[in-house]
Parts: sequence; structure tokens; C-alpha cells
Amino acid sequence: MNKPDHLVQMLGIEYPIIQGPMLGVTSPDMVAAIANAGGLGSLPVGGLSPHKTASLIRETKSKTAQPFAVNLFAHELTEVDSDSFEKMQDFLERIQAQHRIPFERKKITDLKFYHHTDQIDVLLAEHIPVVSFTFGVIQPAAIEQLKRNGSVLIGTATSVKEARLLEEAGIDMIVAQGYEAGGHRGTFLDDEGLPQVGLMSLLLLVVDAVSIPVLAAGGIADERAVRAAFVLGAWGVQIGSLFIACHESLASEGYKEAVLASQETSTALTQAFSGRWARGIKNSFMRQIEESGLKIPYYTFQNSLTAPLRAYGQQNNVTDLVSMWAGQSASYAQRGSATEIFKKLVEKLQHHGQLDF
Ligand SMILES: Cc1cc2nc3c(=O)[nH]c(=O)nc-3n(C[C@H](O)[C@H](O)[C@H](O)COP(=O)(O)O)c2cc1C
Repeated sequence: MNKPDHLVQMLGIEYPIIQGPMLGVTSPDMVAAIANAGGLGSLPVGGLSPHKTASLIRETKSKTAQPFAVNLFAHELTEVDSDSFEKMQDFLERIQAQHRIPFERKKITDLKFYHHTDQIDVLLAEHIPVVSFTFGVIQPAAIEQLKRNGSVLIGTATSVKEARLLEEAGIDMIVAQGYEAGGHRGTFLDDEGLPQVGLMSLLLLVVDAVSIPVLAAGGIADERAVRAAFVLGAWGVQIGSLFIACHESLASEGYKEAVLASQETSTALTQAFSGRWARGIKNSFMRQIEESGLKIPYYTFQNSLTAPLRAYGQQNNVTDLVSMWAGQSASYAQRGSATEIFKKLVEKLQHHGQLDF
């Protein structure tokens, strides 16, 4: 049996195409649309409360009877030094004043973060068939419980070393996330620095290094890129940016327009919004933080500090304040429903005989 055929059997889907989880962009409607069209929809719940996690899962289930993935953030919670935390607040107060956004100073102790282990009971109770994650390896107890409960586990790697670690931990599949990909880097091994490996290299190297299924992510924007990933040994593909401008997307209109008008050079990696490296369309907030020379508090603190500013930007369509996560091929994103975009991709692949396994 060939790899994509094997993958669809393992995941209980029709086509070896995964809609990438995109926190802040992916809605239950998007996940359900892809699931109903025969792909694997992925519901992002990274960092959300168990209550919110359960309600998003139930909402998605009310829209599809097909399997879908739920996506977690697997990082460990860190501490922050108060000096960089306070200096960043001074900086954000000035930026918010420029936009007349009320500023409320936060205390470190006010901030409450959820760890992925807080969400595992919900995933077990809801019998989630596929659990994917990024930013690390989920805890051994969570791996054991989820596997016993019948979940297929998918981890994210940005280097060969990370891929090997995921395989050794008993994870079932690996998303090889190339440097082109939109959104946060899944990187979790600090000793390597930030891996900046493009998908063409990463995919080949990871496929040769591990013996579990590998899914290609980063710059997969049309059927030619899907075919290329299969040629390089991928079992399936994970696609994000292509869906940012669809009807079911939660992106603001300005963000969608910026994505559609983007070029291959429009995006950059930044820590400005969240404290973790992520690829997004360049804007003035990213530039202002860089120019400030400030030490950016690590994820999740910076993410919390910029939350009011990002929410304002999203609600008022001020794209200079929004984290417009997008990949290097984001200009291929399309308007229309997620179903139409997905079906068009499948039809083009079928036309080339690529899905006749
Ligand atoms: C807006 C946005 C948000 C994302 N959020 C997540 C997330 O919550 N969890 C995750 O594992 N990956 C996340 N990603 C990565 C995608 O799932 C996917 O791997 C990536 O978009 C693939 O590259 P592409 O954008 O070039 O298609 C995000 C990507 C984008 C563009």
C-alpha cells in the first residue's frame, strides 16, 4: 500500500490533506467544512481553558460527524523576569496611547496560563480520534492515556533532531514544518537555536531519519506543491495559509486583504506579538518592537501583554496592530468557502491522477 493511501486509512479520512490548525483563524465551521469534504480538519485549542476547549469541540461535532483533529500547545510554562515585563508594559502603554486604546497595567501574578495537561481529560471524554500538537512533546502520561483511548498522535518538528525525539516518545506521525510556513515555529529544542530549514530539505531529511508517517507543512499552496511533497516522501500534507481568506476564517477583512496582496517577501519571523518566533506579514508593530531594542518577554507573557492591542486591531481592522500570521506562499490564499477551496484542490490532484491510489 502506498503512503498516502495508508495515511487516509490510519486517520479515517478520504484524502491525505490536513487543514492546518490556525489559532485565531480556524473556526469550528472551517474544521467541519474540511471534515465533511473528506480532509482532516484541525481544531486549534492551544492554551485555552478546559471549558472553552470542550465547547469548541462540541460546536465542531454539532457540524460534522466525520473525524477531526484537536491541536494543543505542548510547551512548558516558564517564568518571566520582572524588569523586561515592566519595560515592555511601558512600551505598550505608549503604543496604545498613540491609538487611543485604554491601557491597563498587569501584574505578573494576575496572569493565568493553561498547560496542555489541563485539557487532556476533555480530549479523553470527547474521544478525539486525532490529537496534534506543536511547541514540544506532550507529557508521557498524556501520550499513554490518549493512545489507550484510541487517539492518533501527531507532533510537529522543525529539525531532524526534533523529529527523532517525537518518534522516540511514541508519537504516531510527524508534521515536518518548513521555514516557509505561516504562524509559530513548532521549534522546541533550544540548544539548536531556531532551525531555519526550508521544507524541500527538511522533508527529505526527516523522511529518511524516521520510520513513522511524515506530513509536509509550509508553502503547500496548490496541487503542484502537494505532488512535490508526495514525490519527496510525504504521506500527507498540512495546509494553513491557503485557507486564511475563506468565508469560515476568523481573520479580519484587512488581514485577509493583506494575505491576498502579499508577495514572497511580505512575511518575516518575529517574536514581537507572542514572544515565540512566528511568521507573519510585516507591519509597523513588528518594526517598532525591533527598533526599541527591548528584550521581549517569552511566550506566554508577551502574548498576554499584547492581547488588548491585538483585539483592538482585529475589531477595528487596524492591521498594524494585528499578528497577521501567514506563510511565504500566502498569496495563493483564496476567497470562497473552505469546501470550495478544498474541493478545487482535490479535483486538480485527481485530474493529474495523483489521488488514484
Ligand atoms: C494564522 C496561523 C495560525 C497557526 N496556528 C497554529 C496552531 O495553533 N497550531 C499549530 O500546530 N500550527 C499552527 N499554524 C501552522 C499551520 O497549522 C500550518 O502548519 C502552516 O500554516 C503550514 O504552512 P503554510 O501556512 O505555508 O500552509 C498556524 C499557521 C497560521 C498561518
